[in-house]
Amino acid sequence: MKQVILTLATLAVLGLVGAAAVVGLGLYNVSARVGHLPGVSWVLHTTFRNSVDLRAERPERMPDLADPALIALGAKHYETACLPCHAEPGRERTATMAALVPEPPHIDEAVGDWTPAELHWIVYNGVKMSGMPHWPAERREEEVWSVVAYLEAVQQGIEPQAQQALTADPQVEGPEHAAWCASCHGGVERHVPRLDILTETQIAEALEEYRSGARPSGIMQQAASIPTEAELKELAAWFGDRQPRGAGSGGGGAAERGAVLAQRGTEEVPACTACHGPGATEPNPHFPSLAGQDRAYLATQLRLWRDGTRHGSALMTKAARALEDDQIAELAAWFASLPPQKGTGAPAAAEE
Ligand code: HEC
Ligand code: HEC
Ligand code: HEC
Repeated sequence: MKQVILTLATLAVLGLVGAAAVVGLGLYNVSARVGHLPGVSWVLHTTFRNSVDLRAERPERMPDLADPALIALGAKHYETACLPCHAEPGRERTATMAALVPEPPHIDEAVGDWTPAELHWIVYNGVKMSGMPHWPAERREEEVWSVVAYLEAVQQGIEPQAQQALTADPQVEGPEHAAWCASCHGGVERHVPRLDILTETQIAEALEEYRSGARPSGIMQQAASIPTEAELKELAAWFGDRQPRGAGSGGGGAAERGAVLAQRGTEEVPACTACHGPGATEPNPHFPSLAGQDRAYLATQLRLWRDGTRHGSALMTKAARALEDDQIAELAAWFASLPPQKGTGAPAAAEE
């Protein structure tokens, strides 16, 4: 028995000395040119696949991944966040990216036969010890579905024309990057907020919060990190100068119930219109207008305030804390149905 213990102890010491030599003396060649020792790549990749299999669970709430607006949002985010490594369908990876170890698979292969829940897990968590980054924002799992919706479209074989249409920027006469910002921010029913109802100050503040990470969003933290600070200021001024046009969208029974809650409030929930309008009694430049805002965006933000993920304003944290899911849907439906309006003071034009 004593002999066995002694042998084991000697082996352990030798192992430690060996490891110390490899680390301390630089015996392991880290050159990407040489790659991993035989078997190491297999071990790493198999560990990765099994780790994803074990952890990716089908979530309770999954949006409609065939929704074209969700696919378009994901495609546009992919363009700056993922394309540099994984390329886009129908195009090759750059030679430098193909030389990364481990190699980022071309998107056509990366989508593989992963299920939506598995793709979600990979994109949100990233892969340690490889170049694959995690989602840059905490507790914004729901944002990742847009990228998964796009990856699913690729998995089903996206046509080159459809791919081009997804990522084309609109014709916009504005400062540097304006057309690109507008490719996500133009229009409603796109899961993206409209900016024409916001003031320059509100836009500039939001951009600053994304840039510093105070307001978590993997999509907007990425977008706001691309222009310079001076360019962002110009963009805030330009978007803040746009005048809203068009009518609100949707309506119906849910919107009617939302109207009552928003205008009267309850014991737990204050009247939203007192601060947000339309017809706020004391318009305040820090209270954003919600009239005509994108419905899905409104609902997401209300959940974020309620769940403590978005927490820039104590007023809003208090206003949202008692909201139930169906109340959130109703409030979002009502504000989205109002004619778009910049500022919170005057009553909405459509109350004719
Ligand atoms: C800096 C380069 C880089 C960026 C940026 C990047 N990835 Fe990756 N990705 C990798 C590498 C490297 C792997 C391979 C990991 C491995 O096999 O261990 C990978 C793996 C993947 C996989 C799994 C493929 C498989 O079966 O091995 C998916 C899916 C994926 N990435 C999607 C994305 C998406 C979506 C984005 C953007 C949100 C993104 N990646 C951004 C480098 C990158
Ligand atoms: C890939 C699509 C995409 C691009 C590109 C993009 N945005 Fe966004 N933007 C979003 C989404 C999605 C949100 C909502 C994020 C959240 O949940 O906080 C958002 C939020 C915002 C907000 C906050 C609005 C509010 O009501 O508080 C501002 C301001 C904004 N973006 C400005 C810009 C500007 C300026 C650019 C160009 C530099 C830009 N965005 C580029 C998708 C995009
Ligand atoms: C006491 C004033 C006040 C009340 C009452 C209030 N809010 Fe707010 N709300 C704010 C402020 C201030 C902000 C901006 C906070 C920030 O950007 O950090 C905001 C932001 C929001 C946003 C995000 C807008 C955007 O463009 O991102 C939504 C959505 C919202 N409120 C909905 C509501 C709803 C629905 C109610 C009623 C249940 C409500 N608010 C009640 C003050 C208020």
